[in-house]
Amino acid sequence: MQIRRLGTLTGSVLLFGGPYSNLPALEAMHAVAHQYDHALCTGDVVAYGAQPRECVAIIRDWGLNTVAGNCERQLAEGRSNCGCGFDPGSQCDVASNAWFSYASDQIEPRDRAWMAQLPDIITFTHAGRHVAVLHGGVRANNQFIWPTQANDRRAAIAELRAMVGPVDMVIAGHCGVGFIKREDDAVWLNAGVIGMPQNDGDVRTVYATLTDEGVPNLHRLSYDHIKAARSMVHAGLTQGYQTGLTTGWWPSEDILPLVLRRASSPRERVMIEYQSL
Ligand SMILES: [Fe+2]
Repeated sequence: MQIRRLGTLTGSVLLFGGPYSNLPALEAMHAVAHQYDHALCTGDVVAYGAQPRECVAIIRDWGLNTVAGNCERQLAEGRSNCGCGFDPGSQCDVASNAWFSYASDQIEPRDRAWMAQLPDIITFTHAGRHVAVLHGGVRANNQFIWPTQANDRRAAIAELRAMVGPVDMVIAGHCGVGFIKREDDAVWLNAGVIGMPQNDGDVRTVYATLTDEGVPNLHRLSYDHIKAARSMVHAGLTQGYQTGLTTGWWPSEDILPLVLRRASSPRERVMIEYQSL
């Protein structure tokens, strides 16, 4: 377990996850990052999209503090799949095998070396809060912690406190859905992902910020999603995620809790995903 402690950060903070090899989305995020005093990434720089090597280069050259996603860990270790634990033969499994082998072919040894040195957890203090950044869960970075799973959040907060000391706020990623929840005396902020819409019919993706005073907010990111989808088709990545970029809906909902699926009422989805403090 690698822990990177940043000390105290002052000013505004940009938080985003899941560039997912989506270069137009990452370029759009990079273009507005100068508006913030600090920026951090919750991992999965590489995934579904057509330009994994270019995305790694941007994040690496930026010198951005990034926790390792399961995709970075799997690629660094030379594994043959993304490590999400999809059921064998499921649509997610078939699609992930395609993009993972494409990404693994595209990246270079120095990219894997960069991935290998990424921390599992980043800590900092901001506006009087002790903040911990991680990808999925504490013990397993491929754990999906959905907006509906308060018990998993409470357990993870307790584990983090035992591991790194006081924690008042957790910044998470991995599940692909941005949300803010309060768990007793702590705040759980999933910063969402910028490389794929969050299955609500909006093609814009999601990132998060902390104001100077520590107030968390979620935002939508507009970018050239048509260009990103075309790049996937050109690269032969046509297993379904390319349509997710242009429709705002995931090609498979197998891993989603029922209430977050397309058939749920919009009101329920919005209430859960965007419940504010
Ligand atoms: Fe992930």
